[in-house]
Amino acid sequence: MKNPKSEIRNPRFLVRPNILALAPYRCARDDYDSGILLDANENSNGPNIPGAEGLNRYPSPYQWELKEKIGAFRGVPKENIFVGVGSDEPIDLLIRVFCEPGTDAIVITPPTYGMYKVAASINNVPVVSIPLTPDFQLKTDDILAASTEKTKILFLCSPNNPTGNDLNHADIERLIREFPGIVVVDEAYIDFSDKPSFASRVTEFENLVVLQTLSKSFGLAGIRLGIAFASTEVIGFLSKIKAPYNINQLTSDAAIKAFEHLDEMKRSVQELIEQRRFLETEFAKIPQVEKIYPSDSNFILIRVPNALHIYRTLPNLGVVIRYRGDQIHCEETLRITVGTAQENRTLVEAFKQVLAT
Ligand SMILES: Cc1ncc(COP(=O)(O)O)c(C=O)c1O
Repeated sequence: MKNPKSEIRNPRFLVRPNILALAPYRCARDDYDSGILLDANENSNGPNIPGAEGLNRYPSPYQWELKEKIGAFRGVPKENIFVGVGSDEPIDLLIRVFCEPGTDAIVITPPTYGMYKVAASINNVPVVSIPLTPDFQLKTDDILAASTEKTKILFLCSPNNPTGNDLNHADIERLIREFPGIVVVDEAYIDFSDKPSFASRVTEFENLVVLQTLSKSFGLAGIRLGIAFASTEVIGFLSKIKAPYNINQLTSDAAIKAFEHLDEMKRSVQELIEQRRFLETEFAKIPQVEKIYPSDSNFILIRVPNALHIYRTLPNLGVVIRYRGDQIHCEETLRITVGTAQENRTLVEAFKQVLAT
């Protein structure tokens, strides 16, 4: 007999019925992909610019080569991987797969990454907010108390943006086990953290989706490559509703190369962590800085009086940071991305100059 508790977390019971019934777009290349290709109305003469050989062809809709590389690195079978236009694409697609507009809801835990709410609002999906504690950890009991058959997705972010800290992994695991819907763990900053990724656990929990991106540790925000790890069932739903050729050939080529240069990614991460420590040390010496929040990511959150004024004045000295004082528990805070050694020295000097005026 099936366990009814596990049944409510089965993606097949959570998916919107129209998505379950949807016959996805198919192209002739799903059946045949070699020979004289006259099936897709491409330009047989080739591109109109030099150095772009092959770009007259549509890219692979499946991206198996890239998924194999990602999977080998993260310890996840390629069938459990979806690649998207940044991780912002799977955030939107997940809402469209599971949430009936105007009826179903998502749960978020502010302060957190802003796109969950924006993507929900675009899709006319209500948002239930259960704020983090003042030290930026999950209120697991409150989240579970607020969840119903209508709250289809819970978005967690660890390390969290804009606070920078890891969420407690025992809390995350409890929510994966007990939340009656899909639990998304957004790990955009995971390579800066000491904590293990949840990615390899998607074969254990059918309601778990882990998001990662090449925009942070890999330094490839410009190519727009995001990753969702999930059960084959959830991957199937995402693949069904994505645009057929969502990953362009240039992005695919660069992303495949990125997984062939992992030592450079790890070196860059180490350097940014050292520079984060430099910033933490330097800001600790500035008397007006009231708090430097612990960070497991490539940015820090600090609390300082007149944060909005500092945010607005620093660009006059050539430095742009982010004001986060309008977020819950983040009054008078600034979020600062760790820069290069030179950029960080410039930032600290400019910061002191603004405080002195
Ligand atoms: C927590 C979090 N998730 C996702 C993203 C978006 O990443 P991508 O560039 O892959 O769309 C960001 C970007 O800042 C982020 O902070």
